[in-house]
Amino acid sequence: MPEKIKRIGILTSGGDAPGMNAAIRAVVRTAIFYHREAIGIQRGYCGLIDNKTTPLLSHSVSKVISLGGTFLKSSRCPQFYTPEGRAQAMQNISNAGIDALVVIGGDGSFRGAQLLMEEYKLPVVGIPATIDNDIYGTDFTIGFDTAINTVVQAIDKLRDTADSHNLVFFVEVMGRDAGFIALFSSIASGAEATLIPEVQLDIDKLCSYLEWERRKNKTSGIIIVAEGEEQGSAVEIARKVKEKLPDYDTRVTTLGHVQRGGAPTCNDRVLASILGHGAVDALLDGKTGIMIGQRSGQIVHTPFVEACTRHNDLNKKWYEIAHILSL
Ligand code: ADP
Ligand code: F6P
Repeated sequence: MPEKIKRIGILTSGGDAPGMNAAIRAVVRTAIFYHREAIGIQRGYCGLIDNKTTPLLSHSVSKVISLGGTFLKSSRCPQFYTPEGRAQAMQNISNAGIDALVVIGGDGSFRGAQLLMEEYKLPVVGIPATIDNDIYGTDFTIGFDTAINTVVQAIDKLRDTADSHNLVFFVEVMGRDAGFIALFSSIASGAEATLIPEVQLDIDKLCSYLEWERRKNKTSGIIIVAEGEEQGSAVEIARKVKEKLPDYDTRVTTLGHVQRGGAPTCNDRVLASILGHGAVDALLDGKTGIMIGQRSGQIVHTPFVEACTRHNDLNKKWYEIAHILSL
């Protein structure tokens, strides 16, 4: 165990994700267990540059496991892209006596962490937290499970109105350029069709699915559109469908940032706790420049370079299954 790591800094960066607080708690409590100090940095990399740090004791993280968002706050920090911004951050890290850093965020945050490590030899490990589930090196990212449960609850409610009024709803969900949220929520809500960036489904084919459903006396439908869908937003897809099927009564719902909030599910709390513990373990084991993930129930370490350049592949067979089960 390297004795030189005495004080561990923790920050949350990029889009907030439910379970980030549980991850902070796990890092703090594990650090204390190993007789290390934990220092919280506010507002991600912006807090490093602005020198906003606070010591975190065991009681500082009491009862945060059930809270959504991040009590350390997060940011997207343009200054951190510049060498000057990172130099200022490193100056503050040294002044605060921080020997190593745990970065909780998405692949953008890991790119920033990799630079700190390369430029200043600071030991850094990452914990994947984003609702998008788009990070290579882990089966699931922290926040994804909560987000898909939020989406499914919303779609169940929309389904009531769709059925009552014979409507076709186009529901846009987040995910940046990945279709994980759309695909999982489609299977779980029994959506009639799903548009995701990873699979081509053109408008004519979508319309023929809808016609097929109508011939089976289905009077309503749910079409899930991932925000990264290349043919356009849910509004645009709905307009294109309406041009071809003018007698359909359509509505569009964009779920937006409700998908990022709320109390983390049990799965997200457990994942965050295991990965948070694993991050401190890895640092104290001399590891750096890696992301802590979980694959088939095992903790795995993936170099940042790989986590940031490779894709977390979506299982296209599951897309076929979603379609078969909707027929
Ligand atoms: P996420 O971590 O969720 O992918 P972003 O891509 O917005 O979110 O990244 C979060 C922050 O990480 C950015 O606002 C920036 O401060 C830092 N960051 C991202 N990419 C880089 C990079 N290439 N160089 C330096 N810092 C970066
Ligand atoms: O990465 C999480 C996420 O919510 C994406 O799904 C979405 O594309 C993006 O962040 C939205 O970012 P912002 O809140 O900065 O608009």
